[in-house]
Amino acid sequence: MEDKLLLVDDEEGIRNVLRISLADLGYTVFTAADGKEALTIFKEEQPDIVLTDIKMPGIDGVELLRRIKHENPETEVIMITGHGDMDLAVQSLKNDATDFITKPINDDILEISVQKAREKILVREKLRAYTANLEALLREKSALQDRLSSLGLRISSISHGIKGLLTGLDGGMYLVDGGLKKNDSDQIREGWTIVKEMVDRIRKMVLDILFYARERELKPETIDVHSFCQEVAQGVGQKLKERGIEFHQDLSGATGSFRVDPGYLRTALINIIENAADACQKKEDLAAPKVVFRAAEENGEILFEIADNGIGMDEEAREKIFELFFSSKGSQGTGLGLYISQKVVGQHGGSIRVRSQPGRGSRFFLKVPRSGPEEGESAAPA
Ligand SMILES: Nc1ncnc2c1ncn2[C@@H]1O[C@H](COP(=O)(O)OP(=O)(O)OP(=O)(O)O)[C@@H](O)[C@H]1O
Ligand SMILES: [Mg+2]
Repeated sequence: MEDKLLLVDDEEGIRNVLRISLADLGYTVFTAADGKEALTIFKEEQPDIVLTDIKMPGIDGVELLRRIKHENPETEVIMITGHGDMDLAVQSLKNDATDFITKPINDDILEISVQKAREKILVREKLRAYTANLEALLREKSALQDRLSSLGLRISSISHGIKGLLTGLDGGMYLVDGGLKKNDSDQIREGWTIVKEMVDRIRKMVLDILFYARERELKPETIDVHSFCQEVAQGVGQKLKERGIEFHQDLSGATGSFRVDPGYLRTALINIIENAADACQKKEDLAAPKVVFRAAEENGEILFEIADNGIGMDEEAREKIFELFFSSKGSQGTGLGLYISQKVVGQHGGSIRVRSQPGRGSRFFLKVPRSGPEEGESAAPA
C-alpha cells in the first residue's frame, strides 16, 4: 500500500509542483492550503508524513506541527522554511519536527528528506513488531513457568497425600497387631477396615497417576450396554451405600451393544460417580445425599448421566474441572479424575457436558457413540 503524505502550503504554485514530485516518489498526496484545512484532512486520512510550510496565515506551521504531534506523536513532520525563519525553525525543533527543507525546494533534497522520514517509520514498525513478539514470548514463558510450578506443587501435594495414607495404613496395622496379640477381634476388625480403606485409596491414586503418566492403547470390544452399566453400578453403588449415600440407577434405556474399551470407560464413569459422592459429603446438613446414574440411547449414541445433590460448582470451577491437576480437595484429590475421564470419552469419539450451580448439585452428561474408538487409538494424554 502506498504511504499517505499531506502537503500544506498557502501558495498554490508550490503545492502543485511539490504534489507532482511527491507523487513521482510513490506517495498518495493530499494537499491543504492552510492549517485548518490541514487538520481536517489529517484527522480523516491519518497520513504518516506531513510536509508543511512554516509561515502561513492563520494557524502557522509550528502550531500545526504541535497539534499534529498532539493528535498522533508518531507522525513525521517535515518543515518547509524560507530565509529568516530561524526563530520558527528552532521552535519546530523543540516540537519534534523530523527535518527542514528550505525554499526554493530542490527535488533531490526533497526526496532524501522524505525518504529519511519513511525510514524512521519503518524502523518504528519493526521495533513494534519485535516488541510484540518479545511480549508474546515472555507471556509464553511465564505461562510455562506457572504450569511447571503448579506441576511441582501438585507432585509434592500428591506425595504429601500418599504419606498421609501411609500413616493411616500404619495406624491400621498397629491396631491389627495389637488386636492379634490380645486376641481382641473387635480391634482387629477396626484395624482391618482402616487398612482396607487406605489400600483402596492408595490404589486409586496410583492408578490415576499411572494412567496419566503412561501411554497405553485402547482395546475396544463390542459389548452389551446394559450389562456394562450394571457392572459399573454394582461396584460403585455398594461403596456409595457404605458412605451413607443413596445410589439410584436407571438403565432401562441402555439397550443393544457398543464398541468401547470397557476398562477405560468404566474408569471414566467411576471417576465422575466418585466425584458426585464427594460433592454430597462436602455439603453440610444434606439430609438425603443422593447420586443418580442413568444410561439411555439418544440419537444413536449412548448417553450417560450422573447427577448429585451435593455442593455444586460456580462458573469459575466449571471451567477448570477438566484441567490436569485441578482439584478443590487438597491432599484428598489428585485432580486427575476428570482430566482422565474427558480424555477417555474424547478418544471414544464422545464428549462430556456439565450443568451445575453452587448449592444445587451437579449433572454430568457423557455421550459415547456406539461405534467407539479406532483400533489401537492411544488412550493416554496427547
Ligand atoms: N459433582 C461435582 N460437584 C462439585 N464439584 C465437582 C464435581 N465433580 C468434580 N468437581 C470439582 O472438580 C474438581 C476436579 O475433579 P477431579 O475428579 O478431576 O479431581 P479430584 O476429584 O479433586 O481428584 P481425583 O484425582 O482424586 O479424582 C474437584 O476437585 C471438584 O472441585
Ligand atoms: Mg475425582
